[in-house]
Amino acid sequence: MATTSASYFSAAFVFLVALNFLSFQVMAASGHAPNDSDYLGFMLNLEYLDGEFYSYGVFGNDLDSISPNLSQGGPRPIGGQKANLDPLVSEIIKEFAYEQVGHIRAITQATGGFPRPLINFSRALFSLLVDLAVGYPLLPPFDPYANTVNYLIAAQALNYDGVVGYVYINANLNTDAANRLGASLLGMKAGQNAVVRALLYERANQTVAPYNLTVADIVSRIAEFGNKVTRGGLEEGIIVPITLGAENRTVTNVLSAILSIPITVGDENRTVTNVLSADVNSLVHARTPCEILRILYGTGYEGLYGGFFPKEQMAKLQRSALSLLEIPISKSTLSL
Ligand SMILES: *[C@@H]1O[C@H](CO)[C@@H](O)[C@H](O)[C@H]1NC(C)=O
Ligand SMILES: *[C@@H]1O[C@H](CO)[C@@H](O)[C@H](O)[C@H]1NC(C)=O
Ligand SMILES: *[C@@H]1O[C@H](CO)[C@@H](O)[C@H](O)[C@H]1NC(C)=O
Ligand SMILES: *[C@@H]1O[C@H](CO)[C@@H](O)[C@H](O)[C@H]1NC(C)=O
Ligand SMILES: *[C@@H]1O[C@H](CO)[C@@H](O)[C@H](O)[C@H]1NC(C)=O
Ligand SMILES: *[C@@H]1O[C@H](CO)[C@@H](O)[C@H](O)[C@H]1NC(C)=O
Ligand SMILES: *[C@@H]1O[C@H](CO)[C@@H](O)[C@H](O)[C@H]1NC(C)=O
Repeated sequence: MATTSASYFSAAFVFLVALNFLSFQVMAASGHAPNDSDYLGFMLNLEYLDGEFYSYGVFGNDLDSISPNLSQGGPRPIGGQKANLDPLVSEIIKEFAYEQVGHIRAITQATGGFPRPLINFSRALFSLLVDLAVGYPLLPPFDPYANTVNYLIAAQALNYDGVVGYVYINANLNTDAANRLGASLLGMKAGQNAVVRALLYERANQTVAPYNLTVADIVSRIAEFGNKVTRGGLEEGIIVPITLGAENRTVTNVLSAILSIPITVGDENRTVTNVLSADVNSLVHARTPCEILRILYGTGYEGLYGGFFPKEQMAKLQRSALSLLEIPISKSTLSL
């Protein structure tokens, strides 16, 4: 089974996942504590991911076409293409692509960076993600590049992980310089995600043609699917039950926030726990690197690369230190 895309977890795909175990190597962690460069390096992967998706969406080309050699010679992404965007969204995504050039440069200047990992943006991969999220195969297959709303749905699914990733890593950074950089990057990433979610919210009741599903339906099913695959349980759609809305006074959820998140830092375990307390403070969710890898690898397991990052380069932080962040999941516990 060569295709990495068929590996998102779901009852129907468990047999494919089993086959995937044969073609992916489980990585061992070397066991040293992650430092600031490791954490920011992990986020650099996500900055490349978002940046390339924006760059292909508006220019039909990679970030090197904006800033020569930004990728440091990393392989060109697979399957990206220019999206059929309306003029307003096209301008916004173009700005995001330029912003991503700056973010990649900033992390590279601070940490040395590394060449862009191989990224897979093929339509088939997005289509599988959406099929698994909605629970049945959409016909024709979901195409993220076909129109504005499809592209926004896909962009939200990707850039949300950047927001929650920064929330997690920022709580673990040690130096002032890294803290300043992490906070600035979180600000921008959260802003990009909020703009995309607001654009989706504006279209919430619109049907995603030709499917019998609204934008709000698909976004919340992707969120629920992400929670299932990451085993994190934190992401929400753009319209929610009132008990999940800010201060219990709204069903809109343009910004996906959560009940308070106690963050324990200062020891090697560095856990972020999501406690559903009565104390609703509208704080942004956190996702650990492991949780993010489970969904972006498309395997449900942080030790098995695939999906959007089909090669091992993504595993910089993971190789060095991830075993300290979370107890590795054994294969036998993988089914959801
Ligand atoms: C990219 O994803 C597509 C769709 O899942 C898959 O067919 C293809 O093999 C993937 N490419 C790589 C290099 O993993
Ligand atoms: C951080 O750890 C990495 C290995 O994961 C190492 O290559 C790098 O030199 C370390 N950086 C600092 C500033 O200690
Ligand atoms: C591109 O970046 C790589 C890695 O930093 C470097 O080795 C190479 O010389 C650069 N190429 C150009 C044309 O600048
Ligand atoms: C969506 O439809 C619901 C119920 O019909 C309505 O209350 C809400 O205002 C609509 N939202 C948007 C963003 O159009
Ligand atoms: C579309 O979905 C609605 C609500 O889920 C359902 O009532 C309706 O029968 C569906 N229509 C078609 C053509 O599938
Ligand atoms: C981390 O968690 C493990 C498992 O719960 C525990 O055995 C270990 O003592 C903890 N390490 C620290 C430094 O608290
Ligand atoms: C909102 O409702 C939930 C569930 O009923 C409750 O636990 C929570 O305390 C309420 N939040 C506020 C701010 O009233």
